[in-house]
Amino acid sequence: MATVYREADAHPDLLTERTIAIVGFGNQGRAQALNLRDSGAKVIVGNIDDNYRAQAIEDGFEVFSIAEAVEAADVVMLLLPDEIAPEVYTRDIASHLRAGDAISFASGYNVHYEHIVCPEDVDVVLLAPRMIGRGVRDLYLSGDGFFSFVGVHQDASGGARDVMLALASGIGTLRKGAVDVSFQVETELDLFNEQGFGPAFGRVLLTSIDTLIKAGYPKEAVLLEFYLSGEMSYIFQAMAEMGLIEQLDAHSQTSQYGAISRGMRFLGINLKRPMRKILDNIRRGKFAREWNFEQRTGKVRFRLLRALAKRQPIGKIEKEVRKELGIGA
Ligand SMILES: NC(=O)c1ccc[n+]([C@@H]2O[C@H](COP(=O)([O-])OP(=O)(O)OC[C@H]3O[C@@H](n4cnc5c(N)ncnc54)[C@H](OP(=O)(O)O)[C@@H]3O)[C@@H](O)[C@H]2O)c1
Repeated sequence: MATVYREADAHPDLLTERTIAIVGFGNQGRAQALNLRDSGAKVIVGNIDDNYRAQAIEDGFEVFSIAEAVEAADVVMLLLPDEIAPEVYTRDIASHLRAGDAISFASGYNVHYEHIVCPEDVDVVLLAPRMIGRGVRDLYLSGDGFFSFVGVHQDASGGARDVMLALASGIGTLRKGAVDVSFQVETELDLFNEQGFGPAFGRVLLTSIDTLIKAGYPKEAVLLEFYLSGEMSYIFQAMAEMGLIEQLDAHSQTSQYGAISRGMRFLGINLKRPMRKILDNIRRGKFAREWNFEQRTGKVRFRLLRALAKRQPIGKIEKEVRKELGIGA
């Protein structure tokens, strides 16, 4: 059984004793900075000179260059995009960390694949919300909280877990729960969700749309039926609240009978083989090496794949439907 931390496990007093630098004031950075400050923490921001910096100043934070913020802080929360973080870490962070500092990551990726290797005398922790930045802020303000994955990669001070839990309390995640995982587990689950579940789900969606449009159903109705109405997000919400199978009760009996009886017909489709291969590639580091190579060689293949994805017929169909229904992109 995984350990689940709650509010009673944390000593939030630790927050007031240290200066926390939020490095990267983007989706997660802004939400976590605001939450930590509202929880009583001393928060400063390190950001490059861009719109996010202006936002941080407008929000009333003291804003520094990334190197200055790291230098001034005891705890660094690295909230940069994962593909940018190693370069910024090497250039602006590594030489400004002091023995006894802590550095917190919102994703295990760079530490697990050793794109970032922190000094041995620094605490290295994970605080990875299972929630987009806007939700991190909204659910803090409403008092509901949100789930996160947390973990300790390196406990140099002997108090890394306490720092991690104080930060978790400060951003508001312990009101709901923080599940203890390794950096490896967080990374592999996240990548598999993106590479296994996401594309398989997308393929099912596209095949359903294609089947119905080719059968002569109006494209506006088809897209609304599957996702443009936003109903799908309520179904996913019901799965989270009621359970994957239990949420069937929220649908009509016609819907339940149809879904269960016809669901059997898809049992023969072998999704396991490609999913297993995708997972193996993630676990052996093949994906990370491939993506690293892509980034170092100008992202040519990435750009090509993205262009191909954008040229799929659904893009054009959706544009027409959105115009027809008067809903923006
Ligand atoms: N987004 C989510 O829902 C989510 C959920 C859980 C965990 N996470 C994790 O949270 C971390 C941050 O993700 P995010 O989505 O919050 O990032 P983000 O909003 O895309 O960017 C964060 C900040 O990084 C800055 N930045 C970008 N390029 C930079 C560069 N070359 N040098 C210095 N600063 C740069 C951005 O400014 P500019 O764009 O102006 O350069 C922005 O201020 C990642 O580890 C991610 O895996 C994200």
